[in-house]
Amino acid sequence: MATILVTGAAGYIGTHTCIELFAAGHQVVALDNFSNSKPEAMRRVARIAGREPLFHRGDIRDRVALDTLFATHAIDAVIHFAGLKSVGESLSEPLRYYDNNISGSLTLLECMGRAGVRRLVFSSSANVYGDPHTVPVTESFPLGPTNPYGRSKYMMELMLRDLAAAEPAWRIGLLRYFNPVGAHESGLIGEDPHGTPNNLLPYISKVAIGKLEQLNIFGGDYPTADGTGVRDYIHVVDLAAAHVKTLQALEREAGVQTLNVGTGTGYSVLEMVAAFSRISGCAIPFRIVGRRAGDIACSYADPSLAHAVLGWRAQHDLDAMCRDSWRWQQGNPDGYPDD
Ligand code: NAD
Ligand code: UD1
Repeated sequence: MATILVTGAAGYIGTHTCIELFAAGHQVVALDNFSNSKPEAMRRVARIAGREPLFHRGDIRDRVALDTLFATHAIDAVIHFAGLKSVGESLSEPLRYYDNNISGSLTLLECMGRAGVRRLVFSSSANVYGDPHTVPVTESFPLGPTNPYGRSKYMMELMLRDLAAAEPAWRIGLLRYFNPVGAHESGLIGEDPHGTPNNLLPYISKVAIGKLEQLNIFGGDYPTADGTGVRDYIHVVDLAAAHVKTLQALEREAGVQTLNVGTGTGYSVLEMVAAFSRISGCAIPFRIVGRRAGDIACSYADPSLAHAVLGWRAQHDLDAMCRDSWRWQQGNPDGYPDD
């Protein structure tokens, strides 16, 4: 058993990871400033796990609060989710993105170093690959993010490699997530975007439940089998499990492990609409509109390195992703309640 600090614990991936950490026997110290989440999410985590995370409301940019937190708990490792994640917002507010994602992460790293904690799992993104020249995408592909959000992840990857090179005691997992979807099978926790969702599955769910009229499919003329964009959707519970496996791997392996976390299978927008409609029993009206700026045609992972290093493989198929997203949507049509 280890004590793990989870930053951004109340968010979409953080909540699911807290559950997996408890299930693996770990103690969880949770930190979040609720800038993109609600306290109810942490209460739901406690309800599912039957255990209370040691929760601290705070900001990763707050050096004093972090030093106090590390002095209060004997933390063995950190899983660092806290950050901002909207590509569109990052284009209009780049400094807010660099402040949270870069300054915040640097403050966290300094406080970790001072406290002698040198085991870290960092949330990177397939966004660092930009527009991949071919698929499946392996970890050795050239990197070229095209927006401030992706660049913040890329810069953090570079800094973390520099840190591990300078101080070999650091053990760091850089997980490049593909497209997380789905929800915990209890239906109690899930993705809770503010306002109109930008991402596909949350948008489809809101059309299915009648809160949005129809889906706009961004582009029907991509060089893919049916002309719509192809992505590697991965169930959030599989993604959460990969973090627990990475912590284990970092006990065995020193240095930096850079790993794709995806299923290895790509689905088109039309395939996602058909699957969600079949699972929910609801019609999903859609129309094909122009491409969304910054979108790419096709991206899916080669996840074989994660399998080799972690012994991890995604377990949930597309039906499970749709079923669990739908259960969460039906049980929580307005997301988590406010306090
Ligand atoms: P999320 O927004 O649901 O969760 C992030 C959490 O961090 C939120 O609860 C938010 O309140 C908190 N937070 C933000 N800034 C903070 C700060 N300065 N101090 C303390 N807490 C702060 O996002 P998520 O989907 O759970 O993503 C988690 C991580 O994974 C992010 O770093 C994101 O960039 C990365 N990621 C997400 C996706 C995705 O599609 N969801 C894909 C690739 C990478
Ligand atoms: C988006 C982000 C990416 C981020 C990822 C997960 C952009 C340009 N990219 O990626 O950086 O890592 O989310 O958070 O924002 N689609 C529609 N209609 C919609 C919504 C989406 O047709 O209303 C299509 C998109 O064109 C794409 C697919 O569905 O082909 C998936 O979209 P989305 O869920 O937004 O993920 P990404 O575009 O892969």
